[in-house]
Amino acid sequence: MADVPPAQGQGTKQRWRYDEIVIIVGAGIIGLSCAWRLAQKSIPVTVLEAGRAAREASWAGAGMLAPGGEIESDNEAARLAVRSLAAFAAFVTELQAESGIAIDFQQDGAVELAFTEQEAAALEQKAKVQAGLGIPSVPIARDGALYARFYPEDALVNPRDVTAALRVACERRGVQFLEDTPVLGLLDDGTVQIAAGTLQADEVLVTTGAWTTALLPQAGVLPVRGHLISYGTIARQFAGILRHGHTYLLQRDTGEFLAGATREEVGFNRSLDPAAISDLQARAETLLPSLTGLDLKEYWNGFRPGIAGDIPWIGRIRGRISGAFGHYRNGILLAPETARIIAELLA
Ligand code: GLY
Repeated sequence: MADVPPAQGQGTKQRWRYDEIVIIVGAGIIGLSCAWRLAQKSIPVTVLEAGRAAREASWAGAGMLAPGGEIESDNEAARLAVRSLAAFAAFVTELQAESGIAIDFQQDGAVELAFTEQEAAALEQKAKVQAGLGIPSVPIARDGALYARFYPEDALVNPRDVTAALRVACERRGVQFLEDTPVLGLLDDGTVQIAAGTLQADEVLVTTGAWTTALLPQAGVLPVRGHLISYGTIARQFAGILRHGHTYLLQRDTGEFLAGATREEVGFNRSLDPAAISDLQARAETLLPSLTGLDLKEYWNGFRPGIAGDIPWIGRIRGRISGAFGHYRNGILLAPETARIIAELLA
């Protein structure tokens, strides 16, 4: 394999030739998972990242592995979600073993609440559709809500643990990382243009999340901002996930208590919005009144990669270019299955 190019801005414009190499553009959880699976097949992989690895949606996400909360209709995304959830425990076990990094992964299910007759009917109807997709749930009694269902298979993971472990596992298998290296253009023959020159790959995989449309204008990916809040480390409130619609509460194994999320179409505006944060805080406190009066420790936002129909693209695009993008609300959940499909495609 050729040497890696010099850091951006150094040296003269040059063309680097790689032999039988896959270049992955984008080092979020999807790109890192694909890089790991390809490297396990002894395929040389270089990952290019415009900023720092795993510092965007994969850093911001709560890590809900929850088809029960996110999947409402029968389509390819639903089947993918169910398969990926089934693969998650083995993915975590293997990744921990390869990286030596502990991953906070909790398989305690989710409780979803309904506060009105109308919400209860909608929740029952959703559960019927989900049962046909292989997403089980059972009605349970719960104080303070009109109706509640328990989703035994929903789970959660700390995505920051997963990406830290993926980075180590990738490096141990020889994956090269070029951070602060934006890709300026892609050609169908596998040419990748960066500021320092061009790279030539046998296969290029685009995993740039919400930023994909800048590289692939037909991708139809749009950023959908989400705010999350943290109450810091508090006493254990419950196991698993507690949710009402798209408001969800969960607790890391460290005791850190999180609430998500908002959904905002504001482009790539990174400003923290006080109105969005107080709306989320109010929703969290309605769901779990014992949070009332607690100060927030942190709040942040990130950009989900929204896509038409909410069905991610995972496969070849044209020539030597493939993509895995548009995972919208489920990038963490879908990482294992996306990586399996891509590794089969490109190996
Ligand atoms: N999957 C949760 C969210 O996107 O907010």
